[in-house]
Amino acid sequence: MAEQEIAVKELSEADARVELERLATLLAEANTAYHTEDAPELSDAEYDRLKRRNAEIEARFPTLKRADSPSEQVGAPVADGFAKVRHEMRMMSLSNAFEDDDITSFDQSIRRYLGLSDADPLAYTAEPKIDGLSLSLRYENGKLVQAATRGDGTTGENVTANARTIDDIPETLSGAPEVLEVRGEVYMSHADFADLNARQAAKGAKTFANPRNAAAGSLRQLDASITKDRPLRFFAYSWGALSAALADTQIGAIQRLKELGFQTNPLTKRCDGPADMIAHYKAIEEQRATLGYDIDGVVYKVDDLGYQSRLGFRSTTPRWAIAHKFPAELAWTRLEAIDIQVGRTGALSPVARLTPVTVGGVVVSNATLHNEDYIAGRDANGAPIRGGKDIRIGDWVQVYRAGDVIPKVADVDLDKRPDAAQPYEFPKLCPECGSEAIREEGDAVRRCSGGLICPAQAVEKLKHFVSRAAFDIEGLGAKQVEQFYNDGWIKEPADIFTLKDRYGSGLQQLKNREGWGEKSAQNLFDAIEEKRTIPLGRLIFSLGIRHVGEVVANLLARSYGTWDAFQSAIDAAHDPDSEAWAGLVGIDGIGTVVANSLVNSFAQEAERASIDRLVAQLTVQAAERPRTEGSPVAGKTVVFTGTLERMTRAEAKARAESLGAKVSGSVSAKTDLLVAGPGAGSKETKARDLGVQIIDEDGWFDLIEGA
Ligand code: IVH
Repeated sequence: MAEQEIAVKELSEADARVELERLATLLAEANTAYHTEDAPELSDAEYDRLKRRNAEIEARFPTLKRADSPSEQVGAPVADGFAKVRHEMRMMSLSNAFEDDDITSFDQSIRRYLGLSDADPLAYTAEPKIDGLSLSLRYENGKLVQAATRGDGTTGENVTANARTIDDIPETLSGAPEVLEVRGEVYMSHADFADLNARQAAKGAKTFANPRNAAAGSLRQLDASITKDRPLRFFAYSWGALSAALADTQIGAIQRLKELGFQTNPLTKRCDGPADMIAHYKAIEEQRATLGYDIDGVVYKVDDLGYQSRLGFRSTTPRWAIAHKFPAELAWTRLEAIDIQVGRTGALSPVARLTPVTVGGVVVSNATLHNEDYIAGRDANGAPIRGGKDIRIGDWVQVYRAGDVIPKVADVDLDKRPDAAQPYEFPKLCPECGSEAIREEGDAVRRCSGGLICPAQAVEKLKHFVSRAAFDIEGLGAKQVEQFYNDGWIKEPADIFTLKDRYGSGLQQLKNREGWGEKSAQNLFDAIEEKRTIPLGRLIFSLGIRHVGEVVANLLARSYGTWDAFQSAIDAAHDPDSEAWAGLVGIDGIGTVVANSLVNSFAQEAERASIDRLVAQLTVQAAERPRTEGSPVAGKTVVFTGTLERMTRAEAKARAESLGAKVSGSVSAKTDLLVAGPGAGSKETKARDLGVQIIDEDGWFDLIEGA
């Protein structure tokens, strides 16, 4: 994707708006996949890159910053099933550094902030960044009373019963402050991970992509007895609420946690300054492969806790800490073949089949090759990448992984190229259905034009349709859908809802199939019936239209209210001079890319007929439209900041939007109202400078009361 991007400094305002929307959708989807479903879709490196690009665009166009800006978010909302826990103190994320120079700048900015000269001593701690998931343990009077995941930083999941099964987590502490929240990382060692996957495979259960996912999947079990059988570990490295300070320094506090009975990382060291920190980083990096657990960098923290509290926090990260990430891990191997996979939107994605090679402890035999330009050695504008070297079957290629799930082919060694190797010819026909595969101007991707006649697209669309954020039909997951598709029982979403009728005694036939019994068959039909009534936002998302992610789908639902209003608006918007088109692109958060994609999908006859058949089966619940009448905040731009005590951020936003307000993440001249909770920082200062009205949370409730 990097290859088709326009440099941030060259983006027009209109492009920037569209791009921010795209990034918000992509990152929200990636967050859900990673945090809520424990099944990451983007590599860490790609995720970091998208986040950085988002921040760069926002820095250039501050007024375009979205209410749902990814830079304001840590993690993802909690999954259904666990009770929610509000963190007394927010669980923070860390800002990232990649180069040694970033560490010097980090030190400089801290000195500036604290008013220290270069000659003043300023110590830091340096310790491995554990690649697991963070957990907050609350002890009251020395007893473990609650364990919570980070969630979105404000609200996490209550996993107390699960945490109690972890040996590294003490049930009682002696000599601890009355209230003590210990924070740290739950992780799984390489050996335990390999063991677990072997056990899972032996019983035909799901295996995990990496130790982090295994740890997350194991901790977040509704049945704690499953967690008990999973070998999880815990390193303590930080704290939340405290009734008495642990020490004066970070290193002292860690020592204290160790004395209280927690595992602390033995590679934690106090350093005198950047040179010392970078030396320790190198030392940790050298030991990385033999540590026996995954780490993805080194975390530096200002050692003096007095300085830490003066430095405080930005919206999601402390000013006094930074994560120095390791570069991606690399290995060289042979490219044996290139396979083409066809996705939900028809995109042809080339996948490298490799001679298996170990990259950072993981055996890699597949890697992505992105798209045809990437293979040919050029970017979407025709400019050379990799010095213009193309990639051929038989080549010796470099594979890299950055804590990644999907490794990438990065480079090729021309000296080792076999004489007979031929330039790769990217298929012009879909390998699945034989339809023409077309590459539109400006698109890096070639797409199958077969639509629903292409089995690969149809199956991927169905999988999307039944996915968690879409119809989420219990007992009908990706695997079952694929089976039904292959057997010809379900060819398109509408077929799901006629399954029972078409098979008359559907139950009878289904229960005779492999993997189905009378009860599971009945449960499936019941689950399908249950989803026959569906909220408009979910329905729009489930259609799997390009660029229409969850966020966009809900925006559309809120704007149009009903399916009829939505579909007639999209139909009418086909005419670019129509009011409907102006209305569609006028929705805050909908750009021309999304609008075109919607209009084109609805105009495609086969696709449209399939949508109509589906909707005929459903009862679509209208979405709550913003109420403007009698609303004191209709049309106003509202910003929420600081800690909110009576509602979550998401609730606040939803409520404000339902009253016709626009919620923004940053204060600007356009802001009408700032709702500031305790701990509000720079936003409040800025609002005051700009003369924006400021109220507290109670004031907000007074204002909207009765509305
Ligand atoms: S300190 C207020 N120290 O990295 C600062 N975090 O990317 C809280 N992590 O959410 C974090 N090892 O889950 C800290 N030694 C370490 C860490 C660490 C891993 C995780 C943690 C955090 C994430 C941020």
